Amino acid sequence: MAESEFPKLTHRPQWTALADHRAEGQPHLRELFAADPGRAQRYAVRAGDLYLDYSKHLITDETLALLQELATATGVFALRDAMFRGEKINVTERRAVLHTALRAPRDAVIEVDGENVVPKVHAVLDKMAGFADRIRSGEWLGHTGKRIRNVVNIGIGGSDLGPAMAYEVLRPYTARELTFRFVSNVDGADLHEATRDLDPAETLFIVASKTFTTIETITNATSARSWLLKAFDDGGTSHSSEFENGGEKAVAKHFVALSTNGEKVTGFGIDPDNMFEFWDWVGGRYSYDSAIGLSLMIAIGPGRFREMLDGFRLMDDHFRTAPAEANAPLLLGLLGIWYGNFYDAQSHAVLPYSHYLSKFTAYLQQLDMESNGKSVQRGGEPVEWQTGPVVWGTPGTNGQHAYYQLIHQGTRLIPADFIGFARPVGELSGELKAQHDLLMANFFAQTQALAFGKTAEEVRAEGVPEEQVAHRTFRGDHPTTTILAGELTPSVLGQLIALYEHKVFVQGAVWNIDSFDQWGVELGKVLAKRVEPALTQGADVPGLDPSTTALVAAYRTLKNA
Ligand code: F6P
Repeated sequence: MAESEFPKLTHRPQWTALADHRAEGQPHLRELFAADPGRAQRYAVRAGDLYLDYSKHLITDETLALLQELATATGVFALRDAMFRGEKINVTERRAVLHTALRAPRDAVIEVDGENVVPKVHAVLDKMAGFADRIRSGEWLGHTGKRIRNVVNIGIGGSDLGPAMAYEVLRPYTARELTFRFVSNVDGADLHEATRDLDPAETLFIVASKTFTTIETITNATSARSWLLKAFDDGGTSHSSEFENGGEKAVAKHFVALSTNGEKVTGFGIDPDNMFEFWDWVGGRYSYDSAIGLSLMIAIGPGRFREMLDGFRLMDDHFRTAPAEANAPLLLGLLGIWYGNFYDAQSHAVLPYSHYLSKFTAYLQQLDMESNGKSVQRGGEPVEWQTGPVVWGTPGTNGQHAYYQLIHQGTRLIPADFIGFARPVGELSGELKAQHDLLMANFFAQTQALAFGKTAEEVRAEGVPEEQVAHRTFRGDHPTTTILAGELTPSVLGQLIALYEHKVFVQGAVWNIDSFDQWGVELGKVLAKRVEPALTQGADVPGLDPSTTALVAAYRTLKNA
């Protein structure tokens, strides 16, 4: 596209208008609320079951209007519609971006290269449901005739974080009699700890890899196969593609694969009947509602899994159809741009007030940082503006006793999302259930303190000695979004994930980057392969830089000590 058709972002009038608006300065949040008694109600939207309050942001109606104009000018809505239609908006990989098709209803028609992909999606979901039911009911038996009681998902990145996160989130909905483990790290300790107390005869391995070439996953899957076959003592790791010997029969009962690469799956020795397929138009970090979610489906059952998909779809529909001023993913995306590009905020905290969301932020790190950690535009020109922030956070209230100090009184601006629920999950009762109000009192108190702070006058009025007043003063004016829902159900989880998926989309669209490739992970993979022989055999690695050569030498000395 010619420069005149797609002007540089920072030269757009909508961008410079925002820069001028920022330079004018904003009143403190205390003043903004004092001036507008209806602010809390006006700056709140409902999206599905989520109530999203963005009143504690450093914005006015003018800020919002300018941000909306920026979204329109940068073609966010056109790109959104192109994504939903199945156009190949992942330009560097020439692929459609259709995670939204994974939760489309059976009668939807979404075409890629002239083929409706929706029937394929539902065929795989049905196959997954049949398999999940057989594991859950005990009908599927292992090699020695025992029922499967343990499920170990082996995958990494998008083939691990999604199912591992969602399993934690939905634990109260899981079949508690089954054990689920998630192995990702190529550090042998991960697989060792995951399997050391398991009976191989009762263990199912789910090898999850979109490409089925990822070294960590293939290495762990190979070791898992050895562990299994050694236990059955039938010839170690040898295998043929004919599934004739005892080893292969055992593998067929204890290994399934989730992948887009049938050839590699068969080459590994997994029966093609035991493969659950997905497609190149599903990005790894957007894949846990595809076949990659098989472990989760076994854990919560097909019905709950479909409820989760319904939740995703609810947010997809909201993103597609809600007017701009009430569009939750659009608002979140634009607010992030306001701070990242006009306040120079470097990071974004996601702080869930739910123990079950312990892996939520780690999941979002891949979703956001692998998507928008880019420094070239879609056409290859360098960007001259900040792109994706560092995303971080852990569940409240633990963070309050660790790093919140820096958010309250440090020198950096850290916008934060607070996520909380009105009701604890149904399993809790008695005192444990009652603790929920205390958890949520902390939730509300933190955003209140961050926004409104405590003035020096207020501190003095408490009789604090003058030399301590500055230390005990809270400036406030720290921006937060509050996301509230009734209860953390499968549907609400789907809504939350889709909310963030589309937020990331909005930001990538404005920044004119390809949010759906991840070339930045490639170099490290290639170099690791090159350096490995130096560690294992002391081999010379031609062209290795002096720093790494010295480190490898130190490693070998320590290793052989
Ligand atoms: O290396 C990054 C990455 O490609 C992620 O994008 C992906 O989720 C992960 O590796 C795992 O890839 P695969 O599912 O192909 O094993």
